[in-house]
Amino acid sequence: MTHLPTPPPLQMNSLWQLVNWLLRPVHYLEQARRQTGNTFTVAFGWWDILTFTCDPIVVEAVLRQSDQLKVGTNVALLAPLLGENSLLTLEGDRHRQHRKLLMPPFHGERMKAYASVMITATEEHFVTLPRDRPVDVFHLMQQISFEVILKAIFGLKPGSRTTEVSRRLLEMLKILSSPLRSSLILVKPLQQDWGRWSPWGRMQWQRRQLFQVLQAEIDARRQQPEGEDILSLLMSAQDEVGVGLSDGEIMDEMLTFLIAGYETTAISLAWALYWVYARADVRERLRTELAGLGENPEPMAIARLPYLNAVCQEVLRWSSPAPVIFPRSGPNPVQLGPYLLPAQRRIVVCTYLLHRNPALYPQPEQFRPERFLDWKPAPYEFLPFGAGARLCIGYAFAQFELKLVLATVLQQYDLELVNVSPSRLARRGVNLAPQGGIPCRVTPRKVLSLSH
Ligand code: HEM
Repeated sequence: MTHLPTPPPLQMNSLWQLVNWLLRPVHYLEQARRQTGNTFTVAFGWWDILTFTCDPIVVEAVLRQSDQLKVGTNVALLAPLLGENSLLTLEGDRHRQHRKLLMPPFHGERMKAYASVMITATEEHFVTLPRDRPVDVFHLMQQISFEVILKAIFGLKPGSRTTEVSRRLLEMLKILSSPLRSSLILVKPLQQDWGRWSPWGRMQWQRRQLFQVLQAEIDARRQQPEGEDILSLLMSAQDEVGVGLSDGEIMDEMLTFLIAGYETTAISLAWALYWVYARADVRERLRTELAGLGENPEPMAIARLPYLNAVCQEVLRWSSPAPVIFPRSGPNPVQLGPYLLPAQRRIVVCTYLLHRNPALYPQPEQFRPERFLDWKPAPYEFLPFGAGARLCIGYAFAQFELKLVLATVLQQYDLELVNVSPSRLARRGVNLAPQGGIPCRVTPRKVLSLSH
């Protein structure tokens, strides 16, 4: 194995690489692949050396060897924000045990219960939009994504505690959407609690405030009949030997769902609306497919529509909201296809480049949902939600929301894009989002609603 080469380095000044990675990630990634191929080693400053890959063979080797290559210390910095009991920071048996308890509310028949929340949130937000000036669809989708999380995941009903929880949750999100504040918090030496006026001290204080109101919500919920939201289901979830999650564990996981699910979903929703209203052929085909379900179609029937499914897959491929998954590393050298990854070297699966690989997706910059009708990617060729032991727990939830929001808007509204050429994909924290938003004029079509 030792005769195998290590992944080739990108020939570029390391500080310049860091600047480009932070400010022009898409341009940087494409340049790196053109120069070195599908697996390459980068240096972000002299202190941070990582290997990136978008080669399906290497990707499969990384994700299948989760016992060797772990997220481990690579996400440890997130622990003070998300907590010690977050799926994103747990490893090994505790990670498996938490996943087992957390999975059921996110799958199968449970989805039906969330449909009306998703459709109602869309209808309520669209009905109040101004008709005389453009609105930013990305901002609107952030509001809808947040509301769906509050109602379907946290099960919050109108009331003063809900206002307080949602205010505190928004404060936590603000920390992550500001590149400066999030980097101040995620740099280990700056994790110093110098009171509420230091970034770290303030974040810790905000987290404590949030958990106080969440604890009050959990206590109140115990006095009520069990709801259908995810928080209620987790409060009663037990494994085969009758062990459930403590309140502290539940709160860490709830915050994780918000942070992992809010922005990624909003970005996909925004791009879905962009493409559907930029392309009359896609929009008409979708409307014809939806009309085939008759008046008041069932949400589960909508979710099964093949062309709508292909459009959503293409949105996730084209936009890759999470352009990389968390770095993995291990204590020993590991063979990854034709390469040897040195011990402790961090490897990053780059979904953005994987989804733009012309050998897999001809003319990758074009939006062509048909590619997903005629062809099914192999398991490690399409990874918007990751794969393996850390596959996104919200993948079915997010895709259901994508389909229902898109169907609701298509049936009831026309959107006129202010800029028809697509906005660029720009860094927003760890995600790629539409730069400058997606301004649109919104006009109602005719009154027709989905059953919910
Ligand atoms: C379009 C929307 C979404 C995208 C593109 C997305 C993407 C991803 C990806 C790529 C991963 C894997 C990270 C890795 O392997 O390092 C992941 C993990 C995760 N996602 Fe999502 N996600 C989305 C929505 C959601 C939603 C709605 C939730 C929850 C409500 C959620 C919760 C999580 C959690 C908890 C994990 C960690 C799983 C684990 O480590 O076991 N995500 N997501």
